Amino acid sequence: MDTYAVVGNPVTHSKSPFIHARFAQQTGKIMHYIPLLAPLDGFRQTVLDFRKNGGKGMNITVPFKFEAYALATRLTDRARAAHAVNTFRFEAEEEILGDNTDGVGLVRDIEINLNFPLAGKQILLMGAGGAASGVILPLLQQQPCLLAIANRTPEKAVILQQQFASHGPIAAGSYQDFAGQRFDLVINATSASLHNELPPIPPDLFHGTALAYDMLYSSRLTPFLELARAEGVEHLADGAGMLVEQAAESFLLWHGIRPETRIVISQLRDELRRHAP
Ligand SMILES: NC(=O)c1ccc[n+]([C@@H]2O[C@H](COP(=O)([O-])OP(=O)(O)OC[C@H]3O[C@@H](n4cnc5c(N)ncnc54)[C@H](OP(=O)(O)O)[C@@H]3O)[C@@H](O)[C@H]2O)c1
Repeated sequence: MDTYAVVGNPVTHSKSPFIHARFAQQTGKIMHYIPLLAPLDGFRQTVLDFRKNGGKGMNITVPFKFEAYALATRLTDRARAAHAVNTFRFEAEEEILGDNTDGVGLVRDIEINLNFPLAGKQILLMGAGGAASGVILPLLQQQPCLLAIANRTPEKAVILQQQFASHGPIAAGSYQDFAGQRFDLVINATSASLHNELPPIPPDLFHGTALAYDMLYSSRLTPFLELARAEGVEHLADGAGMLVEQAAESFLLWHGIRPETRIVISQLRDELRRHAP
């Protein structure tokens, strides 16, 4: 049976195995999809061992998306633009195709599932890691009025700004640099929620914000979404829809079929509720 995996550290929280099992059921594909914990200094070896043992493809999660970019021997255009990879397809002659499906997953979730058009909007993206860099180009392609990137280490946000400056209006800095500005959409692409922490968000940042979006998914509100709610943001969303949409795009790359996502998003929400702590 063909085997696929999600590799990360941590990885036990990942619902990718659940989602791919639903996609396989829906499309009649016979496949096995497992979580794979890689040591922080052992990503490359973990991937190569998995492929040697017959693995066909992988999803890559926190914190390995930049290392995955470096390990790929061939890249899709969107992965090359992102400098980050979340999907591998193992090919003949030791080739590893690297793709990035995070951006298309996020944009589909926001524009289609949440019915929130991005054109003309002021967007604040928090974080400058693998997830953030994967979504910048697809967000800019929707023609927002501004895409601002705030990061705890502002230098990393500035590097992303320089990388994507030719694709649209983009600003970068520390969280404090954006205090007092109004954003229609605030996206948390940091891994702070994974550790139940909050990025250093300045007071009143959510003033005028219509949608707060946390890429992390959970059965309850993350600290970021709690704060957004307390500051009066009407629409709150976690990353469950993005996760399913990016997974569907990976499934398409591996199997040539795009599965239905809405039903799987609702199955994932039920699953998260069932396993709520
Ligand atoms: N729903 C989905 O489909 C989906 C897809 C992709 C990722 N994600 C989620 O997105 C998150 C980020 O993933 P990643 O791959 O980008 O991770 P990453 O490459 O390790 O980057 C982590 C980012 O978070 C920032 N950060 C970490 N802890 C922080 C804190 N306490 N306060 C402020 N900033 C903090 C880091 O800032 P510094 O640069 O200053 O260290 C960096 O910008 C994870 O929670 C992941 O689960 C979800």
